[in-house]
Amino acid sequence: MNRTNHPPARGRLIVFEGIDGTGKSTQIRLVADALRQRGYPVVTTREPTDGPYGLKIRALYANRGECSQGEELELFIADRRHHVDELLQPALETGRIILCDRYYLSTAAYQGANGMDVDTILARNRFAPVPDLAILFEAPVALGIERITASRGEHLNDFEKAEGLTRVAAIFAALDLPYIRRINAALPIETVRDEILSLILPLLPTPSSAD
Ligand code: TMP
Repeated sequence: MNRTNHPPARGRLIVFEGIDGTGKSTQIRLVADALRQRGYPVVTTREPTDGPYGLKIRALYANRGECSQGEELELFIADRRHHVDELLQPALETGRIILCDRYYLSTAAYQGANGMDVDTILARNRFAPVPDLAILFEAPVALGIERITASRGEHLNDFEKAEGLTRVAAIFAALDLPYIRRINAALPIETVRDEILSLILPLLPTPSSAD
């Protein structure tokens, strides 16, 4: 509870990025639990969202040919604007620690892999708050694909074709931004969780001033 008239401390935006099948959602769950146990007000979220544009994007997974690359980019950007306005900005203003499964670096890597210019994509995303930390999950493409098909029993959707994923991984590998930290996602789950916590904890306010 905030007993003073001071506004709550600004929250933190931590995004989880990387190719499909690298364990981002599992880690978000584990890290959220660990931070909540330490008293932090954590919000978990993802892109594409479950909002109106996110639902359109998910529907496209099945029939990707139905829209052009340009239209696809506009949908991801519209979804992000909605996410920023409805959830991310208000949560930051009320001191929440946001863990977000994918953000604009995914647009750079995935829509960039479709042939769009990466710098142009990043420029189109300047409206979106810059993350305090982007954790880039790195693992061999073959491992990601194996985890999606074998472990999850899912078939690769149109965004997840092996060849495309190799191009996506190459763009992620080439991104050079000050807030990116890379982790080896092929390590055991608990090791990865502890590494992520060691990246996040130094960036957080003390829990008592975080509400
Ligand atoms: P996921 O819900 O399993 O993470 O799947 C989301 C898919 O959408 C994933 O294959 C990456 C893709 N994607 C883009 O192509 N561009 C984007 O901006 C985002 C956020 C996701």
